Amino acid sequence: MLNKSKKFMSFGKMPIANNFLDKKNFNNEYFFDMEVAFNEEKSLLHLKNFPKPSQMFNENYKFFTSTSNYMINHFENFASKITKKFLKNGAKVIEIGCNDGTLLNFFQSKGFECLGFEPSSNVADLAEKKGLKVIKNFFSSEFCDENFRKKTDLICAANVICHIPDLDNLIKGIDSFLSDKGVFIFEEPYLGSMFEKISYDQIYDEHIYIFSISSIKKLFEKYGFELFLAEPQITHGGSMRYFIRRKNANGEVYNIDSLLEVEKNKKLDNLESCLDFKNNCEISKEKTLKKLKFFKNKGLKISGYAATSKSTTILNYCKIGTDIIDCIYDTTPEKIGKFSPGMHIPIIDYKNFQNNYPDVAYLFAWNHKEEITKKESVFLNKGGKWFSHVQL
Ligand code: SAH
Ligand code: TMP
Repeated sequence: MLNKSKKFMSFGKMPIANNFLDKKNFNNEYFFDMEVAFNEEKSLLHLKNFPKPSQMFNENYKFFTSTSNYMINHFENFASKITKKFLKNGAKVIEIGCNDGTLLNFFQSKGFECLGFEPSSNVADLAEKKGLKVIKNFFSSEFCDENFRKKTDLICAANVICHIPDLDNLIKGIDSFLSDKGVFIFEEPYLGSMFEKISYDQIYDEHIYIFSISSIKKLFEKYGFELFLAEPQITHGGSMRYFIRRKNANGEVYNIDSLLEVEKNKKLDNLESCLDFKNNCEISKEKTLKKLKFFKNKGLKISGYAATSKSTTILNYCKIGTDIIDCIYDTTPEKIGKFSPGMHIPIIDYKNFQNNYPDVAYLFAWNHKEEITKKESVFLNKGGKWFSHVQL
């Protein structure tokens, strides 16, 4: 599907972004060449190569939706809004990549018949504990439950469609589950926001694709589906919510043409914007290192805050190790006590932050800035400084 893509940049050797590891595994850590390409035919930015999905999504998966109260609230609103607009009593709902069940549970508590797909069994177990029915596998038409075949009113997904290597197969799966008038609604990090913020840390092994309205429209129309609405979201540093249905459902198409025009003006549909982005990444890397070294030369102590998957790209691309950042504070029990992928910075329980305030904290979860800076307001009051490569 993407054989005419052009490689336009490389981030160098990258480890698995969520593989927070023990010291004993430092020597057998897996690395891959993280090269990025753009396909002009499909207007699609993608990784040229990436680890096998089972290397990333398995019983040791370390991302849990419910670690962010902001995201819990976001998904509650998602469920309410979509229910009002699209669902009737007795509707059937599928979620792809339901993780710990945060979003799907909001639909279940409204009385809908729900089914989740989740290959990472540790997080799937948490969803099951909430009483949700979960197929512990990658989404596929192979697992088409007769109860849901061509009868599903809503298929929803968040931050997972960009993880799925074979998009043709994904769309075939959507086709086998969705009812005639059903809708597929999903939200993913948005190319336009990444280019604008120079948030290159959105690119890591799991994010095989960074979508735009142009790319989603092209991908789906090939299979008789129609993008009929797109809504920008502020989550995860700038995302887009896409609304898809069968073309022959003959419904109204809303803001797509005007948004496509905006993307065309910003050259998001061609390689030119990618080359600008590449230059901007190099400048950002230089500036980040210069600033961090400036802090260090002044004798300031620098720590990291939130061991995000995004931080793996920043640390490995800029080659920031314990010579610059002493540790990273985080809330996730599965990460605490381990070391960051590739650069091996220790991960410490966030509860210790207040007893060891650094002079500067690199906020790796810049997308959760409001939630975190509020929770850690004393840090600023005591003279601490938040830092990031994106504007905070
Ligand atoms: N939707 C949640 C979780 C995002 S993380 C949120 O937005 O917070 C992505 C999740 O999708 C992980 O739990 C991962 O195990 C799962 N996943 C990855 N590939 C998948 C696939 N092909 N089908 C279904 N789930 C998948
Ligand atoms: P992500 O950017 O890969 O989604 O990961 C978010 C990480 O940020 C996760 O490891 C938990 C961490 N985190 C905190 O440590 N404190 C917080 O308040 C929030 C919201 C997240």
